[in-house]
Amino acid sequence: MISKVPDIPDLICFRYNPGPLRKGNKIIGNPVESKYGVSHDQIIDAYSQSIKLGVKRFGIHTMLASNELNYEYMVETTRMLLDIVERICEKLDITFEFINIGGGLGIPYAPDAKPFDLDSMASETARLFKKFKGINGWAPKLYMESGRYITGPHGVLVTSVINHKNTYRKYVGVDASMSALMRPGMYDAYHHIHIHGKEDSLLLKKADVMGALCENIDKFAVQRELPATVEGDILVIHDTGAHGHAMGFNYNGHLRPKELLLREDSSVELIRSAETMENYFSTLSFEPDTLTFEEI
Ligand SMILES: Cc1ncc(COP(=O)(O)O)c(C=O)c1O
Repeated sequence: MISKVPDIPDLICFRYNPGPLRKGNKIIGNPVESKYGVSHDQIIDAYSQSIKLGVKRFGIHTMLASNELNYEYMVETTRMLLDIVERICEKLDITFEFINIGGGLGIPYAPDAKPFDLDSMASETARLFKKFKGINGWAPKLYMESGRYITGPHGVLVTSVINHKNTYRKYVGVDASMSALMRPGMYDAYHHIHIHGKEDSLLLKKADVMGALCENIDKFAVQRELPATVEGDILVIHDTGAHGHAMGFNYNGHLRPKELLLREDSSVELIRSAETMENYFSTLSFEPDTLTFEEI
C-alpha cells in the first residue's frame, strides 16, 4: 500500500473543530456540519498518535467564522484554542509553538456596517496570552490567516451597463457576471455599488443588477435602490479585493476580466490580462491520445 504521508514531519498542526461547543456564522456554517477539522473527542488522540510517530513540534489551527465583524467572536476563538492547548499539554506533556485562529476578520461591506474593532481584539487577545503565560510559564505564538481584512476593501469590480429589462422587476444588465464575483450569488452577500458620475443622484429606484450567466442567482444586487441607468453607464462594485477574481470560474464560457493596479501616484498597471478564447480552450488543444489505466 502506498502511504499518503511518506515522511512523518517534525512539526504537526491539526485543525480543531469544536462541533457543538461553538456556533459558526452564515458563511462557514455550523461546525457540526463542517467537513473541516478533527473533532473535540479526537483531538487529544490525534496529538498522542503523532507523538508516537516521532513528531516533536506542535501547533493547532481552527477557523470557525468568515467575515465576522464581532471582534469578541475572534477573542473567544483564541480563548478556545488556548484552553484546548492547556488540556492537551496537561495530558501529553508537550508544548505548542503556535495557535492559528485562521482568517475570518470581517470588513464592512454595507455603508452602515461598523468596522471590525481590531484594537479591542488585540488588547483582549494579549490579555489572554499574558494569563496563559502566567499560569503555564510559556505561551505559544499567535498566527492568523486574514486575507479579506487586508485585501478586500482595496479592490473594485468595474462593469458597464449593457441592457435593461422591465418585467415583474426592473433589471439592469451588466457586462460582468458572477464568474468574476460569485459572493452575491453564492452567499447572498452585499457589495455596495455606485454608478460613476451619478454618486449624488437623489432619484433612486429599486432594481436587480444582473450578469449574463444562465443562472438566476447571477445578480450583483437584489432590489437595490440605484439611480436610473442608461446603457454605457459604469457601475463600480465595491470591496472585491478578496474572494473576487480568486473565486472566478468559466461557466457558460464566460472569460475572466483583466486586473489593473491603481498606484498611489495615480498610475495604472496591468497586473493580469483578460482571459482569451485561446486560454479558455487551451486544455482542449492537443492531439487526442489513448491512455492506459496506469496513465489516467
Ligand atoms: C483555512 C483558511 N484560512 C484563511 C482563510 C481566509 O479567510 P478570510 O480571507 O476570509 O479572512 C480561509 C478562507 O476561506 C480559509 O479557508
